[in-house]
Amino acid sequence: MATKKIVTVVGARPQFVKAAVVSRAISKANQENGAALTEEIIHTGQHYDNGMSQVFFDQMDIPAPAVNLNIGSGQHGETTGKMLHGIEQELLARSPDLVLLYGDTNSTLAGALAAVKLHLPVAHVEAGLRSYNRTMPEEINRIVTDTISTHLFCPSSSAEMFLHREGITKGVHVVGDVMVDALLYYRSKAIAPTIDGPFALATLHRAENTDNPARLKGILEGFRQSPIPIVLPIHPRTEKALKTIGLSLPDTVVTQKPASYFEMLGLLKDCRFVLTDSGGLQKEAYVLQKRCVTLRDETEWNELVEADCNRLVGANTSMILEALEWADTPLKVSTAFYGDGESAARIVEILQAA
Ligand code: UD1
Repeated sequence: MATKKIVTVVGARPQFVKAAVVSRAISKANQENGAALTEEIIHTGQHYDNGMSQVFFDQMDIPAPAVNLNIGSGQHGETTGKMLHGIEQELLARSPDLVLLYGDTNSTLAGALAAVKLHLPVAHVEAGLRSYNRTMPEEINRIVTDTISTHLFCPSSSAEMFLHREGITKGVHVVGDVMVDALLYYRSKAIAPTIDGPFALATLHRAENTDNPARLKGILEGFRQSPIPIVLPIHPRTEKALKTIGLSLPDTVVTQKPASYFEMLGLLKDCRFVLTDSGGLQKEAYVLQKRCVTLRDETEWNELVEADCNRLVGANTSMILEALEWADTPLKVSTAFYGDGESAARIVEILQAA
């Protein structure tokens, strides 16, 4: 069998989690199923702090990147442009058969554009997600990436439906969500949190919240009135925004450094419920049977709202307060919305046959 060369492009924290399980599935397919796939990872350097990047490679045994472009932070156009240039150079030097991308970050967009300009097929993991809010940078990144991808791996049947609505029907596969694979695979490695007593887990980093003082204040006022402490592993973007606006966190909030994947699993397992504006955490909460209060006006995971696992509250203080009561009640959902934890194996099988 001829060897198929895959180049994977990652750059931001959630992509490391997703790439971890697919990289493992590639090695497994090579060892057990006679597959002949090679993988080289290009890290754009979008996330560069140890706690946002290296710790994930270490904990999750992700193969070391073949190269780190060290692009770092900056304006979207500037960083995406630098990534596009850097990735193109790497793809020219490495001549892969396929470029593998994850999610909806600027690193995803740059990888997709660099690949198609060189007529290389793109495989997009987490295809078809839509918030229908085009002011979100992620929404534009998704639409563009999906439009130019050859293989589109959807985490849910609603994602497939969204693609169909846009006329994208070729190469679409509903494989389930690789984040569920990661959660099930690594859950026994969870690091127990040190906090005593009941607590809620929060994350907050979306530009639409951190860069809008009124929204940030609305959310923090909700947090201030929480009856239980809220553990907030703080994203560097949020920390900077608080300083710039001159806001301090209420006493109910216990901050800590960005959590590693295993720390996050421990917090998720032990918390009463979740408050977040992240995409991934909404699903992780549901898999671990925790209710989720989503600090956004829309979600890509509508099935969770319909199943009453998730409530959209935006940045509205009174809606947050109402949801805090709702959230602290038991949850038991048996529907497997996002697959069975074998999504990565399916992806690899399809790529091998492609
Ligand atoms: C990016 C993704 C978002 C994803 C998130 C996960 C885009 C458009 N957004 O958002 O979809 O949910 O990653 O975290 O790609 N910073 C550091 N150290 C780091 C990384 C970032 O200090 O290691 C700071 C920088 O000041 C930077 C800011 O955080 O300006 C934002 O980082 P950036 O990568 O632009 O976007 P995120 O908000 O992390």
